[in-house]
Amino acid sequence: MGVCGWTACPRLVDHLRTVGENGPSFFVGNLAAVVEKLDEWNTQLPFVKPFYAVKCNDNKTLLALLAGKGLGFDCASQKEMQQILQCAVDPEDIIFASPQKAENHILYAHEQRIQKTVVDSEEELRKLARLAPSMKVFLRLQADDPTARVRLSKKYGMSFQEAIKLLAIARDLSVSIVGICFHVGSAASNPAAYFDAIAMCRQVLDFNNSLASRHAITAIDVGGGFTAANFRRVAQAIRSAKAKYFGEVNGMQWMAEPGRFIASEAFSLVCRVTGIRSRPNASSPSNKVHNAEIFVNDGIYQNFLNALVEGEKSIPTPVLLHCNGNSDRSVPRDGCVYTIWGQTCCSADKIKTACSLCYRVEEGDWLCFPSMGAYTQVTASGFNGFSAVTPIIWIPSAQRPGA
Ligand SMILES: Cc1ncc(COP(=O)(O)O)c(C=O)c1O
Repeated sequence: MGVCGWTACPRLVDHLRTVGENGPSFFVGNLAAVVEKLDEWNTQLPFVKPFYAVKCNDNKTLLALLAGKGLGFDCASQKEMQQILQCAVDPEDIIFASPQKAENHILYAHEQRIQKTVVDSEEELRKLARLAPSMKVFLRLQADDPTARVRLSKKYGMSFQEAIKLLAIARDLSVSIVGICFHVGSAASNPAAYFDAIAMCRQVLDFNNSLASRHAITAIDVGGGFTAANFRRVAQAIRSAKAKYFGEVNGMQWMAEPGRFIASEAFSLVCRVTGIRSRPNASSPSNKVHNAEIFVNDGIYQNFLNALVEGEKSIPTPVLLHCNGNSDRSVPRDGCVYTIWGQTCCSADKIKTACSLCYRVEEGDWLCFPSMGAYTQVTASGFNGFSAVTPIIWIPSAQRPGA
């Protein structure tokens, strides 16, 4: 028995049969979900070229698809640049977007003719002037959506005052500033943060235009932060800000660095329940609710680091993909509430607290967490002797788990 629409998918049925009872957790990959997202991007933001953020998910098949579709790429390190160059991407379509870079990574970018990069400090600008003065620099402004799940502005970005100071310093160093960028935070929820950040880009541009020896600034990079939930509202805010501050014909190249929006829904994570622990619950002594703790063969040291970084709320509620054979599951009137633990012995390895499910879980079940393609497999480690590599089963359709 299974309650998920994928139960009938032959590849999955086959996989579950062949991995047997003790198989590791695995991803179900579905590239149709990526194509859907790219179509939506082109409808909502046709003037903005996406530079996919490789850090979000560097799966080779995904990168090859995106390269074939003509996307650009945002890389954060030498290894990511290598991965993208191996996909035969033009160096022009790569931005080395980390505001703080190790010297050898800068030299690698320079050798490979990757020219676009980012700074948010005078020190980093001077480092570039010393190592690779011909690189084309974007100034990263501080833009913040305080409700974003990951507030990147706590670490990166500069104020308007700092930015305009760097314009003059770059002139003295003979480094070209060619663009302005920002990132309002990952999994943002406030479209006004994009609107305000684009207004600040306009201010920096106006200041630059007032200088006798101005830079040829020709690009605005609106960063990432997009999700399936916010995308239409954020796209609307970007279109309005562009119309208000730049007009229709503005001679700017518009760029973005989406990660999560593109990769999240393309991968679901399927985990096996390896153990259950029931303890009498003082707060719910009646048996109207079934309370228990369950242990699965994954965790924060593999594909669930987001439970810590972004909070447990960011982890989707799992659907039951496959029962262990006992399909007679009586569910108490008020359902079942579980704490879901990861597989290492670390007490921080908790995936979800008080997760309400409409089905009763047993050892040996396979649970499917949908939309787990963003910042999951890229952060996995081998802590406690578990594998850092999670297999992927590709399925052909855009069918969603639970559909
Ligand atoms: C510089 C930069 N660009 C783009 C991204 C991708 O952001 P998101 O996945 O929210 O779209 C990140 C995420 O950390 C980032 O640091």
